[in-house]
Amino acid sequence: MIHVIDDFDLRVRNTFRISAKCRQWVEYTEAGDIPAVLDIIGEDTPRFHIGAGSNLLICTDNYDGAVLHSSILTHEVTPIGADMVRVTVGAGLSLDSVCQWACESGLWGLENLSVIPGEVGSSVVQNVGAYGCEAADLIEYAEVYDTQERRPARLYNSDLCFGYRVSLLKQPEYKGRYIVTEVAYNLSTVPAPRLDYGNLSSHFADGRNVSPMAIREVVTQVRAAKLPDPADIGSAGSFFKNPVVSAKEWEKIQRRCVEMFGTGTEMPHYPAADGKIKLSAAWLIDHADGKTMSCGGAAVWQKQPLVLINRTGKATYEDVLLLKDRIIDAVYGLFGVRLMPEVEIIKNINH
Ligand code: EPU
Repeated sequence: MIHVIDDFDLRVRNTFRISAKCRQWVEYTEAGDIPAVLDIIGEDTPRFHIGAGSNLLICTDNYDGAVLHSSILTHEVTPIGADMVRVTVGAGLSLDSVCQWACESGLWGLENLSVIPGEVGSSVVQNVGAYGCEAADLIEYAEVYDTQERRPARLYNSDLCFGYRVSLLKQPEYKGRYIVTEVAYNLSTVPAPRLDYGNLSSHFADGRNVSPMAIREVVTQVRAAKLPDPADIGSAGSFFKNPVVSAKEWEKIQRRCVEMFGTGTEMPHYPAADGKIKLSAAWLIDHADGKTMSCGGAAVWQKQPLVLINRTGKATYEDVLLLKDRIIDAVYGLFGVRLMPEVEIIKNINH
């Protein structure tokens, strides 16, 4: 089934709760609807596909194009081997509803991703991650519709070229080409806890009562303590990526840090691929006085400065962009590290 609304306000469809109208809102319930959806929109109309709108900043001016949304809600479970099951779910399901089902079923794999406010389709595009786990660790394949070839296709994990918060589907040359319709996650029926991130392991220090549901409960508590409740305050989660720097740059940054803060201040850092070092954007923003910054209705979340919020409920796209630029400048001025947005910024096509 296809549902079309003209002149639709996306405020209820983005977690920043920024008001922005699009020419057409097009929702569909089956993969087989997609060819007809594309015909309705027409070839020349700009389009973008939205999930839960939890990682977007949408330009406040009207978007003169179509915004697509999947309401494919399929859910199928297949045993694979002695200790794995494959759950194949529709792109329109909330990722957390799948996490909850998996935890209730005693299946391991999705528990660390609890309460991420996105949908199954975006878990592929974005390679969502939290608490030492990424969607890429679990995804076997994604069923997609190839809008260029106008046919369904299957992209396996290795085809999807996953990286930190990226996949093939986010690369500029492929952007918008594939529409995710279903995702197959492999989950374990035997214990496979991942407790090495932050203080997660301290909650299970005695090694007892570790279960997917127990981990889900801890992750839920940790997130609630750090991140704004999407029901109360508009935000798009982490606004910036954690920067990854070379060993040489890291030495320079450390020297700058000692000059500014003395030897007693240790900057959090973690090993990344190819001998590089991942830094904590939250720490950099905090130490560049980011928590004091605001711009119009937009502000920095005090408990986790990586998160920019719509404090007044009336923040505009421009408020958030200005705040973003101030933070980038402050961090760059102090540490020589340029933060990159993690949130996708949807500009009006006329700009
Ligand atoms: N920190 C500060 N000041 C603060 C808060 C935090 O300096 O006020 C520092 C601390 O040193 C802390 C460090 O920041 O140890 C890291 O904080 P956290 O553990 O919350 O992780 P993060 O790197 O800031 C990432 C993801 C989050 C995810 C958490 C937990 C990115 C961009 N963000 O945040 O994902 O929930 O790890 O795994 O990778 C999201 O993508 O929207 C998101 C919320």
